[in-house]
Amino acid sequence: MIGKSEEEIALMREPCAIVRDCLTHVGERIRAGMTTKEVDTLVYDYIRASGAVPSCLGYCGYPASACVSVNEVVVHGIPDGRVLREGDIVSVDLCAYKNGFHGDGARTFRIGAVSEEKDKLVRVTEECFFKGIEGLRAGTPLYDIGYRVRKHAEENGFSVIRAYTGHGIGREMHEDPAVPNTGRKGTGIRLSAGMVICVEPMIAAGDWRVRVLDDGWTAVTLDGRPAAHYENTIVIREDGVEILTL
Ligand code: MF3
Ligand code: CO
Repeated sequence: MIGKSEEEIALMREPCAIVRDCLTHVGERIRAGMTTKEVDTLVYDYIRASGAVPSCLGYCGYPASACVSVNEVVVHGIPDGRVLREGDIVSVDLCAYKNGFHGDGARTFRIGAVSEEKDKLVRVTEECFFKGIEGLRAGTPLYDIGYRVRKHAEENGFSVIRAYTGHGIGREMHEDPAVPNTGRKGTGIRLSAGMVICVEPMIAAGDWRVRVLDDGWTAVTLDGRPAAHYENTIVIREDGVEILTL
């Protein structure tokens, strides 16, 4: 995958800023008593009001604007009548399409006071993103990202979800390359300036194995223990990275 032009990157700023601001908007409103469907409505309304399209809606038949994944749900939780309760952790993952390009990001929110384990899991998952992109620049081997993510997760006693990866992004929501959250240092394609990718650690408190429910989307941990997710869309530069959704 060759890098995008500055013109293309300029067009991506807007959908990415909408993703960022929508995640902030949700973070300011999400609370105990709300259903995951109500969270999805917040996302739909915000993205539409921003003049963008919620591009998860209808993607491969996905029925909502956001993935709202509670506790043991790792990713792709379909919003429904599930009521959020104090002590839950909730990942909200969403995409906005504008100017012919997609932006993609996710955060995991704490509902009220959460257990020490969940609190650490959310914090370490965010840290895994920043560890993953540490030192990243044009020329870095792609799998250094996963190597760093996994190292940080495991040093903290957690495990990395293997079944899902980050990805390139642009005119399509998912472009090459896949960006795994595990990997051998010094391997994989060399990142090049202008490449736009989503780095998205999904980290489990217990075992990394997942299963998908009969709805064909909802991925849950096999052991039922909680998982968290944190994602940003980033641009690779000659001398570092630029985070578009933060
Ligand atoms: N935002 C997700 C990602 O990181 C896409 C979720 S799948 C969808 O790739 F169907 F909801 F779009
Ligand atoms: Co993504």
